[in-house]
Amino acid sequence: MQHPGEAPNSRREFLRTGALFTGTVAALGGGLELLSRRPGAAAESALPGLVGQAKKALGPYDTSEPVTPYAQATGYNNFYEFGTDKADPARLAASLKPRPWTVKIDGEVKKPMTVDIDTLQSWFPLEDRIYRMRCVEGWSMVMPWLGFPLSALIRRLNPTGKAKYVQFTALLDPKQFPGQRGDVLAWPYVEGLRLDEALSPLAFMAVGLAGRVLPGQNGAPLRLVVPWKYGFKGIKSIVRITLTEKQPQTTWAQSAPGEYGFYANVNPKVDHPRWSQATERRIGELSRRPTLMFNGYADQVGSLYSNLDLRKNY
Ligand code: MTE
Repeated sequence: MQHPGEAPNSRREFLRTGALFTGTVAALGGGLELLSRRPGAAAESALPGLVGQAKKALGPYDTSEPVTPYAQATGYNNFYEFGTDKADPARLAASLKPRPWTVKIDGEVKKPMTVDIDTLQSWFPLEDRIYRMRCVEGWSMVMPWLGFPLSALIRRLNPTGKAKYVQFTALLDPKQFPGQRGDVLAWPYVEGLRLDEALSPLAFMAVGLAGRVLPGQNGAPLRLVVPWKYGFKGIKSIVRITLTEKQPQTTWAQSAPGEYGFYANVNPKVDHPRWSQATERRIGELSRRPTLMFNGYADQVGSLYSNLDLRKNY
């Protein structure tokens, strides 16, 4: 993240499989459970470890762009709890134990609680969302997530009238996260959204990727996905969700306030102090392409920011 220079392209990156994600939920381990809960999933076959073959009609929020090959989506990651190299998360992810796992829900909610991840997941039918993801470093991917809308979770939590923001906290455990034995960032990783942003139909909680249980390197067992914002807002391995009255602290804004703001909306017109945000390189492609306002999701989320100076509120 500190270094916008990207890792050299591996040859495999250019060997497109041609096989787009087709939306079937097959799974590893607990993912078979995911499959059984997904509406319409019963007829689909699930071989552990394989992505299924059935076709899926694109939903209203899905992009039809080619999905990033699974090897890149799970092999080129930012997850500083494992290290700062893009290959560290995949190499070290086995030390993260996504079960048993609980999520603490507190702050401005009518009934604070600590809930087991499987129980939390069972509250919602699982959906697929094929979203673009744009990293602040200037690369992007297309990711086929599996999960549920954040708005459904927030509504179920019954926020009090005072709730204005949602804060997310990632796991703090240097035994599972070798990167937390150093101080490259202040741990635990924290992120936040305004409540109205969190209620946007685009805001998503992922528990799976490409029809499989979410791999450790992508933020198992629960991560935030907000595709109109830079990737660093998508906090991984969440253990706590707190509804707050005041704008919460966020890790990157704390680490370099002049470089990373609370909003972090993708904006080709507002450059990062050390590099331009006008273009991006889609992983798997050679040339750069123009970056779109709100990462191409302006129709869905632009109205959230009509009263905000996006230069000041970067
Ligand atoms: N979440 C945690 N807990 N720790 C991190 O270091 N990195 C962020 C975000 N979520 C990060 C995190 C950054 S900088 C990006 S670009 C995305 O995760 C990368 O997600 P991916 O590896 O699934 O593509």
